[in-house]
Amino acid sequence: MKLRKSLLASFCAIAASTFNAGTAAAQKDWPTKSIQMIVPFAAGGPTDSIARLIAVPMGQALGQTVVVENVPGAGGTIASTKVARSAPDGYTIYIHHMGMATANALYDKLPYDPMKDFEYIGQVADVPMVLLGKKDLPANNFKELEAYIKANGSKVTMANAGPGAVSQLCGLLFQSRLGVKLTNIPYKGTGPALTDLLGGQVDLLCDQTTQTIPYIKDGRVKAFGTTTLKRLPAIPNVPTLNEQGMKGFEVKVWHGIYTPKGVPQPVLDKLNAALKKALNSPDVKKRLDDANIDIVSASKATPKGLKDHLDTEINVWGPVIRKANIPD
Ligand code: MLT
Repeated sequence: MKLRKSLLASFCAIAASTFNAGTAAAQKDWPTKSIQMIVPFAAGGPTDSIARLIAVPMGQALGQTVVVENVPGAGGTIASTKVARSAPDGYTIYIHHMGMATANALYDKLPYDPMKDFEYIGQVADVPMVLLGKKDLPANNFKELEAYIKANGSKVTMANAGPGAVSQLCGLLFQSRLGVKLTNIPYKGTGPALTDLLGGQVDLLCDQTTQTIPYIKDGRVKAFGTTTLKRLPAIPNVPTLNEQGMKGFEVKVWHGIYTPKGVPQPVLDKLNAALKKALNSPDVKKRLDDANIDIVSASKATPKGLKDHLDTEINVWGPVIRKANIPD
């Protein structure tokens, strides 16, 4: 009996050391196949664009392709749930914006915990937003828009990318500051929402600048105000909402890269190094700069930089969302 026990113990010890050696080798060789980057919104939107922009240089740094997969719906919470439940092998990575922080206050119960169910790779970029209108809207500036909204109330439609999307947050904060309730129309991302704004099917959309600047410049949409405290260099003629009476109205959309909880440290280190390399790529810098998007500082592009910021933002947005009764 004793012999059987000690044989079993030796077998387990050998198996454990073989497993550990195998795991260590797997971590050392990682990645040996393509990596999936989950995007929580529809293709063609701002999050998707940033994902596709950094996926290429991240893949080059890692020696494998980073393939973008869109998992839209419920303001990003479907994708967050999927990622939280994915295998922690480093082959699933996740890009999400500040919706990772606001979802806590917007949903009664999330099937994941943003502070516990993920590993944090680093922040990516901060994107300004602009309040846009369809080109045929009778209003031509913020004052006229206010008057138009007051006269037409809920006949005015405003697109967003669902509860938890920043377009929804920005749109509802705007309505709360004006003291009006418009007809809010949810989409699976601001990609399809912007398509409808361009087509004139919807009146307003609060969108990130990632793709909108060319449309503003050539007059295919009207820009009523930026959500920044200073005007944006790419569209200097567009006043801020702050300077037009909405004091302190500021929404800057930060982004982070995550993995499911439990990815081994050596793999997390490689992902962080790849992210840093991608953010230093001249092509990424130029394309983000053209859209007035700020690449984060080196200290923010770190696991601690992202985790601390997420924690702070959950505490910042909770009271704002509750005070503005979003969603009511
Ligand atoms: C998107 O990529 O569609 C947006 O980031 C959605 C949003 O408004 O949050």
